[in-house]
Amino acid sequence: MRISKAVFPAAGLGTRFLPATKAQPKEMLPLVDKPLIQYVIEEAVGAGIRNITIVTGRGKNAIEDHFDVSYELERVLEERGKENLLNEVRLISNMINVSYVRQKEALGLGHAIWVARDAIGNDPFAVLLGDDIIHSQVPCMRQMIDVFEKLQGSVIATCEVPHSEIHHYGVIAGTPVEGFGGRVYRVQDVVEKPPAEEAPSNLAIIGRYILTPQIFGFLEKTRTGSGGEIQLTDGIRLLLEQQPVYAYMFEGRRYDAGDKLGFLKATVEFALRRDDLGAEFRTYLKSLKL
Ligand code: UTP
Repeated sequence: MRISKAVFPAAGLGTRFLPATKAQPKEMLPLVDKPLIQYVIEEAVGAGIRNITIVTGRGKNAIEDHFDVSYELERVLEERGKENLLNEVRLISNMINVSYVRQKEALGLGHAIWVARDAIGNDPFAVLLGDDIIHSQVPCMRQMIDVFEKLQGSVIATCEVPHSEIHHYGVIAGTPVEGFGGRVYRVQDVVEKPPAEEAPSNLAIIGRYILTPQIFGFLEKTRTGSGGEIQLTDGIRLLLEQQPVYAYMFEGRRYDAGDKLGFLKATVEFALRRDDLGAEFRTYLKSLKL
């Protein structure tokens, strides 16, 4: 089984980033000079995934425009001889087959994935959230696909978080799987946002998943939850009763770019890593009297 399709849920309301997200999708906030969602799509492409389904909602047209061909802009860049920019603008749209499905109401992450069921069909697939930006040598999704190919079961990305922050996350209870250097766990349970003293571990679920298509049936079943919301963790809990689900501690640095402080940290660190900006930006930061 190969992973060739990915779902990008991008229909959330982005309330943590208001007012910036009132009329602009959170996924289009630029990290230095690229929208968040482009980093995540580039990660998927780096993992060999070309078929991309983006789940959008009202007010998300900018995402579709971003991955569309912009004839006007391309003509102007061509006329002005700006070959580098022209290639940059064309590159990402040329690398992917993108389709869109609409989530009419923001009824939760599980629901957003469920609305993509026809686009995915009956194959295992990846899910990547634009909130989580990961800097790593090997793309995080590539690392996860390697685990999936060995174990042939759903894989959830996790990372260790401090005790004081665990209540913000879905948390796994699991037992280590041999042969992966302590990085893979067989998941026994998942708990959504537990109080720190009740958390079963310090392993938080972050926004990367490989799921088997059976998840769609379980997401459908969880529909009766409060306010009609469908939680992905509820679906995963049902899934793991039927088939193995693994948690993988990825190698790399993750930024919570859906949160203001996380976004600022990501902006500074990504700018410092840039060849064209890093040196000057470092000198500037050092000059600040902090
Ligand atoms: P979040 O809860 O982090 O995003 O959902 P949000 O709701 O947009 O943001 P806040 O918390 O109000 O600031 C995680 C991911 O799931 C998507 C979001 O777009 C985000 O990528 N999502 C969430 C949906 O697509 N639909 C939903 O109904 C909820």
